[in-house]
Amino acid sequence: MTTSINTVGVIGAGQMGAGIAHVAALAGMQVVLVDLEMDRVEAAIAGIGKNMDRQVKKEKISADDKTAALGRLAAAVDHASLKDCDLVIEAATENEQIKGQIFKSVCQHLKPEAFLATNTSSLPITRLAANTDRPEKFIGLHFMNPVPVMKLIEIIRGIATSDETYEMAEAVSKRLGKITAVSEDFPGFIVNRILMPMINEAAYTLHEGVADIASIDAAMKLGTNVPMGPLELADFIGLDTCLSIMKVLYEGMSDSKYRPCPLLVKYVEAGWYGRKTGKGFYDYSGETPVPTR
Ligand code: CAA
Repeated sequence: MTTSINTVGVIGAGQMGAGIAHVAALAGMQVVLVDLEMDRVEAAIAGIGKNMDRQVKKEKISADDKTAALGRLAAAVDHASLKDCDLVIEAATENEQIKGQIFKSVCQHLKPEAFLATNTSSLPITRLAANTDRPEKFIGLHFMNPVPVMKLIEIIRGIATSDETYEMAEAVSKRLGKITAVSEDFPGFIVNRILMPMINEAAYTLHEGVADIASIDAAMKLGTNVPMGPLELADFIGLDTCLSIMKVLYEGMSDSKYRPCPLLVKYVEAGWYGRKTGKGFYDYSGETPVPTR
């Protein structure tokens, strides 16, 4: 059975939610973008417009594509606005309690046949699904940042996820122009199980005085041919997100090899979350980022 998804709700207008709304609108879907404050949603939509401008400039899309896609984007601050959605993708902050509350509230408004997905980067899908009235229609759809550029979506089934829901997730990913990798529901799935310990080890390499920030990033960038060094990438993802994923790995696997680096913890305690707060392993207040150590 093919399920057609025409209207998509996205909860959370941060960098991931905005990116998901961006690609869904460009793929021809009606999108409702929801957050707690209208200012936040409007700022996200303005950012989507700017990112689409980059794509117009690079001739990846036409100016008409951009105008049509923006016309398909609606802003909202209440879950009742999601009542007509065929699929709702939650991309709120990486906090299990907050996500649980959102699912409980959203389910009261969804039509019975609607699917529900989470963009969680590491929380257990089966446990999140338990907050809903439809665990068989619940699935993990994990996008990568920046969503318009990165090709991958990780698909994670919970224990109750139906075949129909999985097929819907594959079909939607394809329609968004993405390639999927399927992961079992274990901490960190595939990408973060491997990426976060690398970022954490880079923080330890700094913490133990093996090398400074610039050397660590240059070594990994030039030595392993990746677009960003691990500390630069950590700032890009958000150090708060990196730390919360390390905690999920540490607690979920009860293995000390995943213990978060104390220096990463200290940066987060200082509110130095990376690019989004203007300071992380680098200081972004000037024209070019300056290492903080
Ligand atoms: N929207 C649309 N297009 C964008 C964009 C955005 N937000 N950001 C960048 N682009 C486009 C640019 O227009 C440019 O297009 P062309 O290839 O046509 O020139 C292209 O992407 C490259 O961008 P830039 O030239 O500005 O800069 P860059 O070459 O330094 O690339 C980058 C930027 C794409 C972010 C690159 O540095 C990169 O791939 N970094 C690694 C990102 C990564 O690893 N992401 C995964 C993180 S893990 C994750 O997300 C999962 C999790 O749970 C934590």
